[in-house]
Amino acid sequence: MTVADATAVRPRVHSLGYLGLTSTDLDGWRTFATDIAGMAISDTSSENELRLRIDEYQWRISVTPGDGSVAFVGWEVAGKAALDAIVADLTAAGVAVEEDSKLAQERGVLELVRSEDPAGNQIEFFYGPITESKPFVSPQGVEFVTGEQGLGHVVLATPSAEETERFYVDLLGFRVSDRVNLGPVVAMFAYVNPRHHSLAVVQAPERLLHHFMLEVTSLDEVGLALDRSLASNAHQPATGLGKHTNDQAVSFYLTTPSECRVEYGWAGRQLDLDLNPSTTVVYTGGSIWGHKSV
Ligand SMILES: [Fe+2]
Repeated sequence: MTVADATAVRPRVHSLGYLGLTSTDLDGWRTFATDIAGMAISDTSSENELRLRIDEYQWRISVTPGDGSVAFVGWEVAGKAALDAIVADLTAAGVAVEEDSKLAQERGVLELVRSEDPAGNQIEFFYGPITESKPFVSPQGVEFVTGEQGLGHVVLATPSAEETERFYVDLLGFRVSDRVNLGPVVAMFAYVNPRHHSLAVVQAPERLLHHFMLEVTSLDEVGLALDRSLASNAHQPATGLGKHTNDQAVSFYLTTPSECRVEYGWAGRQLDLDLNPSTTVVYTGGSIWGHKSV
């Protein structure tokens, strides 16, 4: 099957479920997450793991001590049948995949398997996340867009972009949303639910999580976060406001206390999984306006 044919396949993955980051500065992360981004500290945090809530899930982002690189990316699937299908597909393709009940317990999910993508990222597929009966209350009054669209999106930079794309698109059924010409490289954006992209893959000299995105429900929440960032000493914005060409989100980027940035955005375009697009648009740049480095 080729990448183009993959649009006929229903994605195996439901959404981006959780994200594990490392950092040399957990205290910095705590302040950044609550005071700037408006996330809440999860009760499941421990001395060595900061866990952050943005919705009813017990946690969505984990930060543990380390060099700042990404530790794991968790993809949520609908249930046991979907998880079994992923295990069968990966195994048939010769990709090592391992069930890990101890890790499932640690993460707070019913069942989990872990594997590695061609870029070298630890990826986990899971279903049955524990949700809190205590409602999510943002310390900054922010409401995040999650639900069927999941946590947000991740942009993976890798020296093996083509192989990584084949893995997510051909093997796992991610649909190509479009591509964006970023000058020397063309980034691939892919979706598994109405969110325009849950994943982007871009060729780069080394593996890293370029950024992840959090979406909020109003333009004011984006502007207020930008104001909080500008007023802070430690957590200045990495860019000004801008609007993306492909998903049309209005957003800006923040430097996190890990190596990745976070994109803080609003009004990302939604795609229809039933439309089965047969062509792929290439945009000539990432932004219609803005997103200038500051
Ligand atoms: Fe993004």
